[in-house]
Amino acid sequence: MGRLYNRNVLLGVTGGIAAYKSAQLIRDLREAGATVRVVMTHGATEFITPLTLQALSGQPVHLELLDAEAEAGMGHIELARWADLVLVAPATADFLSRLAQGRADDLLTTLCLATPAPLLVAPAMNQGMWRDAATGANIELLASRGVHITGPSEGSQACGDVGPGRLQEPAEIVAAAQGLFAAGVLDGLRVTVTAGPTREALDPVRYISNHSSGKMGFAIARAAAEAGALTTLISGPVALETPESVNRIEVTSAVEMYDTALAQMGQCDIFVGCAAVADYRPAQSQLQKIKKGQETMQLELVRNPDIIAAVAAHSQRPFTVGFAAETQDVLEYARNKMQDKQLDMIVANDVARDDAGFNSDQNAATLLWADGCLEVPLTTKGELARQLVDTIAGRWRQGKGKHKGKVA
Ligand code: C5P
Repeated sequence: MGRLYNRNVLLGVTGGIAAYKSAQLIRDLREAGATVRVVMTHGATEFITPLTLQALSGQPVHLELLDAEAEAGMGHIELARWADLVLVAPATADFLSRLAQGRADDLLTTLCLATPAPLLVAPAMNQGMWRDAATGANIELLASRGVHITGPSEGSQACGDVGPGRLQEPAEIVAAAQGLFAAGVLDGLRVTVTAGPTREALDPVRYISNHSSGKMGFAIARAAAEAGALTTLISGPVALETPESVNRIEVTSAVEMYDTALAQMGQCDIFVGCAAVADYRPAQSQLQKIKKGQETMQLELVRNPDIIAAVAAHSQRPFTVGFAAETQDVLEYARNKMQDKQLDMIVANDVARDDAGFNSDQNAATLLWADGCLEVPLTTKGELARQLVDTIAGRWRQGKGKHKGKVA
């Protein structure tokens, strides 16, 4: 089901009785992970209301080619570019004929001409119309141009006839759409990433924290989502935009991050702990602002829980990946940390070098696991994240199901 995850599907609905099935189709496409925007022909609005399809898609429905309001928002060329797939279901004989002629006399046909995305049509019409030589010639022409065609099915028709021309069931159309996309390496897996610093409150206005920007963790969440994973990002306070299709949960303190991470157990296949969690927190956070007075002041700190070690020790442990930021003997310290915390993989960083790390957009690292390693020379955090995701996917496939509930 994951192949439509993160995909933008532009659903064209044309004017046939089967237009009522597009309501279920929208639900199924969204269930499969797609974002759906609907374009209706005028004929389609005679069979089903735009309001129904708007409510089901959660997006405004587009009807007019020349619509000043729409052009100010998402205009027709932007819509054509936005789509990863244009799916027309039901596609009437008239629509197929106009498509075959390359017409651009309404919004949907114009989009079909303008889009660089693949085009999939699901014909639906009376069996006589489907069998007619003109329709057959149009279908052949469209297929020769690379248009994908799914269906129609055979059976009893709304008009009382029996034969080919029924719109395929929504599930079959969704399967045809999925078949047009290659599977992502983390398709359908659930990934949780921690990112950023934590803040440990001293009083209502002061805290202890660190310089983590969150960039590496956000890049990993983005790469995981792009690889098809259902991705949750548990982030400390950072000034970064949420990557597309990532579910972001904001936390402040280490204890909050711990509680949020542990609440994911049972719904998480892969956990990547990239956050720079504060090791200690003030023994007491004062309710009122601390007043200055004395020349010196003593703070009592207590250890924070180790989030990733708790995740790795959990009875429903996911495949667990940690980070080790070191300044010397990087690989040795990292391997020890992987063993101490019972991790499946660790990303070893040399934070002593000044061209990588904390606030930089670049990073270099060595990925270590029980019986192997991969050195990633200095590159962008985005590229490092993609290599990490690919490596995790490879390890996951090799040990699939084995690490569940078992310590590595
Ligand atoms: O022990 P150290 O802080 O060097 O370990 C780093 C790794 O452990 C990182 O993956 C970090 O996200 C994780 N960690 C954690 N909870 C802590 C401290 C570190 O999850 N309290």
